[in-house]
Amino acid sequence: MVLGFTNRVLAVDLGTSRVRVWRPRGGIVLDEPSVVAVDLRQGRACAVGAAAKHMSGRTPTGVTVVRAVQDGRVGDFEAVRILARRALECGPRTLLDGMRPTVLASVPVDCPGVHERALEQAFLQVGAGRVIMVPAPLAAAAGSRVLLGQDAGGLLVDLGAGTADLAVFAYGRMVAARSLPVGGDALDRAVVARIRRDHRMEIEPVAAERLRVAAEAPADVHGRTVLEVRGRHIGRNAPVVARVGVAEIHDALAPLLAGLVDAIADTLARCPAELGADILDCGLALTGGLAHGAWTRARLQDALGVPVAAPEDPDVRTILGLGALSASPQITARGADVWSAAPVC
Ligand SMILES: Nc1ncnc2c1ncn2[C@@H]1O[C@H](COP(=O)(O)OP(=O)(O)OP(=O)(O)O)[C@@H](O)[C@H]1O
Ligand SMILES: [Mg+2]
Repeated sequence: MVLGFTNRVLAVDLGTSRVRVWRPRGGIVLDEPSVVAVDLRQGRACAVGAAAKHMSGRTPTGVTVVRAVQDGRVGDFEAVRILARRALECGPRTLLDGMRPTVLASVPVDCPGVHERALEQAFLQVGAGRVIMVPAPLAAAAGSRVLLGQDAGGLLVDLGAGTADLAVFAYGRMVAARSLPVGGDALDRAVVARIRRDHRMEIEPVAAERLRVAAEAPADVHGRTVLEVRGRHIGRNAPVVARVGVAEIHDALAPLLAGLVDAIADTLARCPAELGADILDCGLALTGGLAHGAWTRARLQDALGVPVAAPEDPDVRTILGLGALSASPQITARGADVWSAAPVC
């Protein structure tokens, strides 16, 4: 059965930072933060997605903002269920005729079974008929139209908010992969810690993210070497605005990127010689939100000595790839066993 013909398929990339939904003939129909605001007194959600994220750092007493996915894994099952329901609401109206949609969901590589089962249960409980798990880098490669249709080997790194997923491809198949807990959130925590240490100030993770994104932009975009951030002074316990050097932010991020460089170099070292040589020739494909960061791309390229290329809109490559894969008979026939799925591009 080719799901693309039936239209009863929905692709969902429920990530650490955002939830994205793709459906046949609609394309990407949802792309918003994967957070839920919960009213603790009533014990139910009071805001979802962008509205809930806006409440971060501003929540009234009795309300808490919960991230559905943390570090690439299910963090809060109820929040995952709420987002799964919202995702299914974007899908084809199959429930009317009793047909339940099949969901293609991305998962990090090295994903523990408990995460996969929780994700599957969440979708089944809100109306999915079947859930097919697809490794995120495989989907990102399909969405970037790279590595799956070529004989030469290649390496793709998907840098999201929770994890960095590394995958080696050869003859259009994913032959090795690993996942590291290095993503935008870990970088933001490093920024929070640095500002606390050097400026005696507490800042919210959203403020750290704004600071980091500005520091990662190409120098000619903002042309600034100093950025402003709002927070609370630790000693005086009062709101304060600090001026932070872009170089300070880069310095805080450097150790985490060095860890990522080591892992990529280790993966390259383990590749058979010809495959490694292919990767050195064609370089590394970078997807995920962090691939927007010019400073990050340049840093990886310098440290690894191989070309690093990111497609346009690198953060939507996984969801576009899930959409493309949903029309592949190999994927739908073999279900979760798509580790070595045949080329589809
Ligand atoms: N222009 C930018 N510069 C630097 N970082 C950015 C930019 N835009 C988004 N990001 C970062 O990208 C991350 C989100 O990427 P993405 O949407 O790929 O994550 P995700 O799929 O939700 O997470 P994961 O796949 O790890 O579970 C966030 O940490 C965000 O700060
Ligand atoms: Mg992702």
